[in-house]
Amino acid sequence: MDIFEKCRDFASTGFYESYGHRVYLRPLRPSAHPGEVLINGRSVVMAGSNDYLGLARDPRLAEAAVRATRLDGTGCSGSRTLCGTRDIHEQLEDACAAFLGREAAVLAPSGFQTNLLLAGLLGKDDVVLGDRHNHASLVDAVRLAGARYHRYRRDGVARAERLLSEAPPGAGRVIVTDGLFSMEGDLCDLPAITALADRCRARVVVDSAHDLGLLGATGRGVPEHFGLEDRVDLVTATFSKSLGSAGGVLAGPAEVINFVRCRARATVFTAGMAPSVAAAALAALDIVRTEPERRTRALEVAERMHNGLRALGYDTGNSVSAIIPIPIGDKVRCLELWQRLLDAGVYVNPVIAPGRPEGQEMLRISFTPVHSDAQLERALEAFAAAGRATGVIPRTPPGSFTPVRIARPPALAQETARPRSAAVPVSTATVR
Ligand SMILES: Cc1ncc(COP(=O)(O)O)c(C=O)c1O
Repeated sequence: MDIFEKCRDFASTGFYESYGHRVYLRPLRPSAHPGEVLINGRSVVMAGSNDYLGLARDPRLAEAAVRATRLDGTGCSGSRTLCGTRDIHEQLEDACAAFLGREAAVLAPSGFQTNLLLAGLLGKDDVVLGDRHNHASLVDAVRLAGARYHRYRRDGVARAERLLSEAPPGAGRVIVTDGLFSMEGDLCDLPAITALADRCRARVVVDSAHDLGLLGATGRGVPEHFGLEDRVDLVTATFSKSLGSAGGVLAGPAEVINFVRCRARATVFTAGMAPSVAAAALAALDIVRTEPERRTRALEVAERMHNGLRALGYDTGNSVSAIIPIPIGDKVRCLELWQRLLDAGVYVNPVIAPGRPEGQEMLRISFTPVHSDAQLERALEAFAAAGRATGVIPRTPPGSFTPVRIARPPALAQETARPRSAAVPVSTATVR
């Protein structure tokens, strides 16, 4: 059998197009309006990125990247291990370790590769427990290592105890989880995970790809949000989301990080991060540290949009974050709603197969602190019209809805919290 055969079959599946819509690899160009992108020459509100703090187009990051390029060139021309490491790499590693309150940190050229570093730590006899919705890169790290992988359901952490306790003597035990889940926008049950890890003497690894910079009192992510940083052994994160750059970091005890740095194939056999990319991430980290108001605004915007959508009759699932899921459960309707939103000037993400099983299609939406109040209102108007036209929401808004309480740091939460179960009247300010 020719290995190219499947490619010919694939060409006829119309991957880019679905029901006549150009869904994947949509060409985007920069817009003159912050918070917007050009699609087919038209400026539309960008509500489908992971740029949670709106830093990807911040001029300070661009400046840092240009300066680093002038100083250090455009690429590293090889592995840091063999071809040498640059000051900017070490500065970023030190800054990440200090920010995350860990002894040491090691970089990788992408968030995906950062998680593959874990393969350097795991052996084939080790037993790894992971949430069933963990990111593909965490699953691939376990596969690469040949370790045994058991998946648990988000609400079934305690029931997973048997799987860990049955690990053969001598086997390493690890629980690995996304901090904030990328599609549903809900949090891992870190208190249950760390309690289980204590009982089973397992190590805990949290991937803070979506929560770094956004959650926790100082933006250190989900472990900080839960006040459980000292119970998490390793943190991985990417710079491609809240930090507006690319690359990632694994942080933890110095001896572990040193071992990984020297042994993990995903760093030893790959070129170091481009200096510009590392410098942009370093500049972003500094902004995260010094401008907490961005995080506050990001969470305010998220809460406002969750509740604005709920007031219209949309379901936003169990998300407590800037990721707003809208379950649709039907591919044709999902794409119709998506296209109508785009026609009305709002770009969101349609999540259909292969990203989502049939019958669980959804839209994934996120706004940033860069979006103006006028853009947010425009987006809600588009959602009102498109949702009604497609029958996803009722023609008349519900009389009340259950508000979302965003995962804020405790001090902020006390100021803004309402009980999650309490219904609030629909505000005419956000419903047309
Ligand atoms: C939870 C999680 N981990 C890791 C990654 C990989 O990060 P990157 O895209 O920076 O390679 C992603 C990306 O979507 C992710 O959602």
